Parts: sequence; C-alpha cells; structure tokens
Amino acid sequence: MIQIENLTKRYGSFTAVDDITFTARPGRVTGFLGPNGAGKSTAMRMLVGLTVPSSGSALVLGRPYRSLPTPARHVGVMLDAAAQHAGRTGRETLVLAAAMAGMPRHAVDRALERVGLTSREAERRVGNYSLGMRQRLGLAGALIGEPQVLVLDEPANGLDPAGIRWMRGLLRDFADQGGTVLLSSHLLHEVEQVAHDIVMIGGGRIVAEGTQEELLAGHGQTVVGTPEGERARLAAELRGAGHQVDLRGEDLVTNATRAQVARIALTAGVPVTHLAESSAGRLEEMFLQLTADQARQERTEEVSA
Ligand SMILES: Nc1ncnc2c1ncn2[C@@H]1O[C@H](COP(=O)(O)OP(=O)(O)OP(=O)(O)O)[C@@H](O)[C@H]1O
Ligand SMILES: [Mg+2]
Repeated sequence: MIQIENLTKRYGSFTAVDDITFTARPGRVTGFLGPNGAGKSTAMRMLVGLTVPSSGSALVLGRPYRSLPTPARHVGVMLDAAAQHAGRTGRETLVLAAAMAGMPRHAVDRALERVGLTSREAERRVGNYSLGMRQRLGLAGALIGEPQVLVLDEPANGLDPAGIRWMRGLLRDFADQGGTVLLSSHLLHEVEQVAHDIVMIGGGRIVAEGTQEELLAGHGQTVVGTPEGERARLAAELRGAGHQVDLRGEDLVTNATRAQVARIALTAGVPVTHLAESSAGRLEEMFLQLTADQARQERTEEVSA
C-alpha cells in the first residue's frame, strides 16, 4: 500500500508537485500517467525519500520509506535505469544490491532469471548494455529483496514490444500475488494495458483518478451514424443545441447522450443508422488535452521568461 497525502514540492516559486493525494492498493497495478514535466518523477522521489517534500506526506506500507528497516526487503525501487554504474557487470550490480538488502547470493540468480537476463549477459559490463537490458537489470535490482511494493519510474522506456509485453506480465503477476505496483509513464497505451487504476497528473496536479473502468465510464460519449448527405446537418443541429461534435471516421462523436441525439435527430428529420455509447478514446482525449495544455503553458512561460 502506498498513501500519498497533500504532497507538494516547490522549487523557488515553481510548484513541481501541487498538493497531490492518492492511494496505490495491494493486488493492483496503479499507473501514474502524465506528460513530460508533469511531476511524476518528483513525486516518486519524494515517496522514496530522495527529495524532501515542501509539505504533505508519503507512506509506504504505513510508514515513511526512510523509516523502513532494510527498505529493499519491502519496496523495490527503479527510478533511473541509466544511472547504474557502467563499469560493473550486471551480476556485480546485483550482488551489491543483494548484500545491501541482506539477501543470500542465490537471490541474484533468481532475480536474473525473473527478468530474463542470461548468465552470459550478466557477466558483461553495464556500460555495454542496451537500454532494454539496463531496464531489465534495474528491475532485477528492484525485485532482489522480494518486496511487496514496487515503485517504478518509466520502466518500459527502451523496451521493444516483446519486452513491454513481458514487463506487463511480470507486473500483473506481482499484483496478482498481492503486491502493490506504482509505475509511471508518459505513454497512455502502456498504462492502459497494464494498470488497474490510473492517476493522471498534469502540471503537478492530479486531473483524473480512478479505476480504468471508472475513468472511461464517467466520460461516455455517443457515436452516431447517419447517411453521408445528412451528417453535416445533424452536426449543426447538435452544435446548435450546445453539444460538442467531432468526426470519427464516418461517424459523429458527441458529448450529448443517446437520448438527446435521438430527440434532436427526430426533430430535425435526420435518419440515424446507428447510435451507440462510446467510451474508447476518451482517456486518450483527456490525456491529449492535458499534454496540449502543458505544452501551451511551457510556451507561455518561455515567452514571459
Ligand atoms: N531539482 C529541480 N529543480 C528545479 N526544478 C525541478 C527540479 N526537479 C524537477 N523540476 C521541475 O519539476 C517539473 C516536474 O519534473 P518531473 O521530472 O517530476 O516530471 P516528470 O513527470 O517525471 O516528466 P518526464 O515524463 O519528462 O520524466 C519539471 O518542470 C522540472 O523541470
Ligand atoms: Mg520523469
């Protein structure tokens, strides 16, 4: 269990993380999703005691990370896989991690096996590792103490599609066995495919939070099909009634409910070929909106700087 409460980090007058509160539960993968610069890494660094919060608190398994005895036995952390010592071999890296976690040596072989690094690869220097291999090694380091909680910052970075699928399986298994997983990503698809719960952050603030189903259900849209010649007219009628309308393929997508669409179409005499509730794409829309807002804000800051 991870409990973050009113956590805030200010750098001078800039607020990188702005009063965020959420919980990551055991048995679930929680995706921490946000565009570049949203505050994900800063929040995770505060969670594991590497950055001091300006205010608020972060608890892992009910206590501050720094107060956990032998933290690696409880919480596996991977923040920056690129930061590993380049001169050591993969195996040496894990032997050190095992020693710090107070784990026996055979934990190293087990961790290597779990992340799919061969013993030959483990003898090579980390400096010669590919990005994906580094990521696997980082994950092996996080797993070495057999923790109940995983905190992973962008763990899928640099992995190829097969690697991403493998990682997804590993994290789901970890949660299925009762573990808590918090992973960050700036890619919606990655998060969508692995996370039970999603916390979406933008500009340091949480903008959406819930199970995937809740996030999708709360923002249902209606997809409506009409004969081609009638489409523009129905779109105009919907807009006239104050609804948003977009074109998706051959269909109109609107925030009006099905009942509203049906009534408007009937009044306007526009034939409707199909009418359905749509949830797909909504998370993506929210996320793109967030990314656009962030980009706009950065441009404004550059101009005023
Ligand atoms: N030590 C620091 N001093 C000043 N500003 C910082 C510091 N660390 C982070 N920031 C700023 O805080 C904001 C959030 O950064 P953070 O690294 O947490 O974002 P992120 O969500 O992890 O982004 P990314 O997806 O690019 O990894 C950014 O604007 C960043 O420049
Ligand atoms: Mg980051």
